[in-house]
Amino acid sequence: MKTEKIDVLLGLQWGDEGKGKVVDVLTPRYDVVARFQGGPNAGHTLIFDNKKFVLKSIPSGVFQGNKQNIIGNGMVLDAALFKAEAEALEAAGIDLKSRLLISKKAHLILPTHRLMDSALEASKGSNKVGTTGRGIGPTYTDKVARTGVRVGDLLRPDFEERYAAARAAHERTLKSLNFEYDLAPLEKAWREGIEYMKQFKFVDSEHFVANLLREGKTILCEGAQGTMLDIDFGSYPFVTSSNTICAGACTGLGVAPRNIGKVYGIMKAYCTRVGSGPFPTELFDKDGEALSDRGNEFGAVTGRRRRCGWVDLVALRYAVRLNGVTDLILMKSDVLDVFKTIKACVAYKLPDGTQTDEFPFDCEGVEPIYEELPGWLTDLTALHDEDEFPEEFNNYISFIEEYLETPVSIVSVGPDRNQTIVRE
Ligand code: GDP
Ligand code: IMO
Ligand code: MG
Repeated sequence: MKTEKIDVLLGLQWGDEGKGKVVDVLTPRYDVVARFQGGPNAGHTLIFDNKKFVLKSIPSGVFQGNKQNIIGNGMVLDAALFKAEAEALEAAGIDLKSRLLISKKAHLILPTHRLMDSALEASKGSNKVGTTGRGIGPTYTDKVARTGVRVGDLLRPDFEERYAAARAAHERTLKSLNFEYDLAPLEKAWREGIEYMKQFKFVDSEHFVANLLREGKTILCEGAQGTMLDIDFGSYPFVTSSNTICAGACTGLGVAPRNIGKVYGIMKAYCTRVGSGPFPTELFDKDGEALSDRGNEFGAVTGRRRRCGWVDLVALRYAVRLNGVTDLILMKSDVLDVFKTIKACVAYKLPDGTQTDEFPFDCEGVEPIYEELPGWLTDLTALHDEDEFPEEFNNYISFIEEYLETPVSIVSVGPDRNQTIVRE
């Protein structure tokens, strides 16, 4: 049997690496784009023709020609937010209903899941995860507890009973947490969302994907969040509730490991993180402020200021290995244009005084050990070809490639679709 390949693009850091932008740029090479995990906790920004779109649950392949896009079984969907997002795209002239398919096995975020997210966070005191408040954790919790409600259940005659059972269980928890809420307006918007969603094609996406592969069609899988937020390998418990790594594409779409082809690992030339949790290279000085200001580092979903720091090659090598990255994509180098010296973390000093270059179980008290590289002090945003790269920038790229033992095949030098340089 011929084995067709599916390529995967995913974040190597704590999310917001620029996945949306690059999926949009790569879409012309593929027949289909599919999301495999996460939900409206994601905010994927695309900028082209002086227009900006932020996609949350809808894959970033909807703007390039008439490509098919799939919401995979590994995702969680909030019908009210989906309706708002999809209607905004339709208003912009995107014919979504003909090209967006939704897996029947994707789980529904219920209005009470969102309330539970807020209630559970509030109950954690100073130990908050800093979630996006979109009900992600409680929805995946129900999935694993086998009490979730799926997109395909919308077509079943006993849908209302399934929904009522889940809602009742959630309301018991909300009451036990003394959480005050008004469900009616949330439920109204959600029910309107459900009716809207039913106009889309619900599919058994695993069969659909298998048939596409048999026909020789090419598929790009779009990850959400980032490797360091993975439920198994991220900085638990300050993580999201899904597998963000490459293996998540297998379970989140129903694809066998041997069908995975290229793995594009996307990274910023520095680091950011939204929400709580360890961040060894975090900066609290004027360099951190400069990264935040120049990079416009505010969350695309919640508007929160992102924490910023130097690039962390220890965490990145861990991410490259976990995902089997074949190609690196380097984003937002232009943000570093004004730095005379650029630092890259190459090892951690542990609290017992020893050093490691392997990402540890516990990041408490680790200190980054940096290598310093000369900055390029050049405006990268106007460059169109790698031949124009200043020598110092080429050296920075080579340094990353050597440490991570992986080639950088795409370099992004600005937020616009056109500010992308392919080196393959
Ligand atoms: P995603 O969640 O991984 O899709 O990333 P986000 O959209 O949340 O965050 C990336 C941000 O960086 C967005 O505001 C993009 O418009 C912007 N961006 C993407 N690539 C570049 C780049 O190369 N340079 C600059 N300056 N901004 C970029
Ligand atoms: P994209 O796809 C950055 C973070 C939250 C919080 C933790 C858990 O745009 O890169 P959750 O709501 O998932 O339960 O929150 O994960 N987080 C993200 N951070 N980018 C994202 O998505 C994120 N999605 C969740 O801030 O710390
Ligand atoms: Mg984002």
